[in-house]
Amino acid sequence: MGSYVDDRDRALSDPSAFWLDAAQAIDWIEAPTIGLDASGAPLYRWFPDGVLNTCANAVDRHVDAGHGEKIAIRYDSPVTGTRASVTYSALLDMVSRFAGVLADLGVERGHRVIVYMPMIPEAIVAMLACARLGAVHSVVFGGFAPAELAARIDDAEPTVIVTASCGIEPSRVVEYKPLLDEALRLATYVPIASVVLQRPQAPAEMGPTDVDWHERISTAHPHAAVPVLATDPLYILYTSGTTGRPKGVVRDNGGHAVAMAWSFENVYGMGPDDTWWAASDVGWVVGHSYIAYAPLIAGATTLLYEGKPVGTPDAGAFWRVIAEYGVAALFTAPTAIRAIKREDPDGLLLADYDLSSLRTLFLAGERLDPNTYDWATDHLGVPVIDNYWQTETGWPIASNMRGLEPMPIKPGSPTVAVPGYDVRVVDGAGDDLPAGQDGAIVIRLPLPPGALPTLWRDDQRYIDSYLSAFEGCYTTGDGGYIDEDGYVYVMGRTDDVINVAGHRLSTGSMEAVVAAHPQVAECAVIGVQDAMKGQVPRAFVVLKAGVDPDPSVLQAEIVAAVRNQIGPVAALKEVVIVPGLPKTRSGKILRRTMRGIADGRPEAIPSTIEDVRVLDVITPLLRN
Ligand code: COA
Ligand code: AMP
Repeated sequence: MGSYVDDRDRALSDPSAFWLDAAQAIDWIEAPTIGLDASGAPLYRWFPDGVLNTCANAVDRHVDAGHGEKIAIRYDSPVTGTRASVTYSALLDMVSRFAGVLADLGVERGHRVIVYMPMIPEAIVAMLACARLGAVHSVVFGGFAPAELAARIDDAEPTVIVTASCGIEPSRVVEYKPLLDEALRLATYVPIASVVLQRPQAPAEMGPTDVDWHERISTAHPHAAVPVLATDPLYILYTSGTTGRPKGVVRDNGGHAVAMAWSFENVYGMGPDDTWWAASDVGWVVGHSYIAYAPLIAGATTLLYEGKPVGTPDAGAFWRVIAEYGVAALFTAPTAIRAIKREDPDGLLLADYDLSSLRTLFLAGERLDPNTYDWATDHLGVPVIDNYWQTETGWPIASNMRGLEPMPIKPGSPTVAVPGYDVRVVDGAGDDLPAGQDGAIVIRLPLPPGALPTLWRDDQRYIDSYLSAFEGCYTTGDGGYIDEDGYVYVMGRTDDVINVAGHRLSTGSMEAVVAAHPQVAECAVIGVQDAMKGQVPRAFVVLKAGVDPDPSVLQAEIVAAVRNQIGPVAALKEVVIVPGLPKTRSGKILRRTMRGIADGRPEAIPSTIEDVRVLDVITPLLRN
């Protein structure tokens, strides 16, 4: 075990040397001699002369080392009543054949492939097959509507789309194929083909450019791993920004592989002999980093769970999985624990299972509230580790370093800045604030390996969105403070991004849909506190003069519009009709003031407010 302070200081004083050392955990085709390339600052690149293949690091090398019979993936799907284990040898066979399928369809190094799949092993196979070819995958979460998928198709311009006929939510079977067909109708870009994995719960009707996964893979020739530059993109993951247009976060191959290997061991304290479970979804960044890449690069066993923490069959589902597979660490969002706690407040179901394998519970994706922390700590009897990161960084910015040097836990804080991240809290002028003072959380450049080098085909948007507000710094979009021991406290977003059940959503894109309703004059969508999901969106709408709709009909129409255009994951269920919105005298809606009230952190009411009585009407509606 090393020391946190040593690693933190070394990573900041000589980042190239620190990360070149860490890069030795990766099998390179040509080992990098250069760590950081700052020649294009503020755009940085890692390991510019390194050549590797990420898939070979996640699969082939473990088979070559004689671990082919080891389990790579445990698939547990209570929603379909299925369980399966995939060895590293079997994974190599599936991935290299599926790479062959994609290559036969015309996919080459640098081409994009959209993966729109539920939580099944084939989703990981599709991702790795792209990596094997040097193609760039872009996984789209199943809970998005066709219009969102279409926006991603037009931005990524994929040669091929890989999908399954359906996903399974506890309440319903979600047919993906009609959603994909609709997205393709809406998109202007036309991919060559869609590969469809037929699932028995809802087989899809195939069209002229659709090909059947099983049919193709059974006759496909295995494809070898293609050497790529460390700086070549591995994937694009779209995430919500402050405008409706999603941002294509780019992940490179080399920096990502190094960050995955280093963080799995040093942040999470995991090794190749562990069964690790990230209960998220491959459509989110946690799924990319810690369901797929990190555990497989480490040669560990990753658990892929298709289901919810409650109701499938009950709130003991997670404990059953931990006991059955000897899970060493569970990683999920606090909302999952709140969902379990709501159903089983006294943790009675825990008594049915032997959880002695569990060493740690990791929680991330949203603020870990003290009640959830206490409940999990009391009932599980293992350290509960909050860790803070973003789609953009791909791995933790702040955490308790369970592998490197475990530290005392302070509830409410994800502990300290992870080596490689120079985290600061600054005032509006960009000056460091003293310990304990609230400000903007920023990270001094360069970001470490694995964090985004840019946005897909849009360096300028990357610079404008993240690097322009504070000179020499990456802006996280979060506010918070650092205490006298260096512990980081993340208090919430300072923009219009909200976190609903650990899912990141843009209220701006919801507002665009709500405002398009013919009877709505103007609107604001604000994240309000929710006992289970952390936050939920609530729409405040002002009607056009002279219209007098039935409120329940209007509300239902707005809810349906958001569901149809963004997707069920947007979870907009509350629409409040109000006489007016608080505004400045120049007519700007005071969203920031509204957000502060909703977060329980009211700011001083701006002196430029047009009419303070409107705020009096809105305030109680923001608080419950
Ligand atoms: N495909 C289609 N629809 C989906 C979907 C998918 N992959 N994922 C979610 N949805 C739908 C849900 O069915 C739900 O629809 P509904 O309004 O008809 O019920 C809606 O999107 C909202 O889903 P969700 O926010 O997940 O709410 P939920 O009530 O179904 O479940 C939790 C709540 C807390 C149990 C669940 O979100 C959870 O387990 N979260 C923790 C883990 C996690 O995903 N973390 C992400 C980052 S680490
Ligand atoms: P995502 O990109 O979906 O991972 O969401 C990133 C955002 O989630 C961050 O900018 C934070 O607002 C929030 N977040 C993630 N982890 C934490 C945490 N441990 N504590 C507080 N907020 C968090």
